[in-house]
Amino acid sequence: MRYIAGLLFMLAMVQLAGCGGSKAISRKTLVPGEREFRSNCGSCHSLPSPSELTDSAWVPVVKQHAGMLDLEQEKEQLIIQFLQQHNRDNP
Ligand code: HEC
Repeated sequence: MRYIAGLLFMLAMVQLAGCGGSKAISRKTLVPGEREFRSNCGSCHSLPSPSELTDSAWVPVVKQHAGMLDLEQEKEQLIIQFLQQHNRDNP
């Protein structure tokens, strides 16, 4: 039993590492947050500019959209982080 649990854990880790790694290599110019932002936020309206809103204003907007999109919380957080890190002119 312990052996199986350990094996499953290792498999999960390998998958996580493998997944992130290969994506990072194939599109290394995009951080994960930007990738999620670009693939999720431009389908209904044009892709908003990160500097459109302030750090605190992005949070409820992305959360509201994440609800519409059925987005996982992890991706929601990545998108929020990306937007907050790229709105330097409107912090
Ligand atoms: C399912 C369609 C859809 C997707 C996908 C979508 N939006 Fe929107 N978005 C809307 C609609 C509809 C409005 C206008 C609704 C409103 O103003 O309440 C809007 C409005 C906005 C606004 C202006 C609203 C404000 O309060 O300033 C921003 C900024 C925005 N979206 C950002 C995003 C981001 C970031 C994503 C990705 C997480 C995203 N949108 C994905 C439909 C979508």
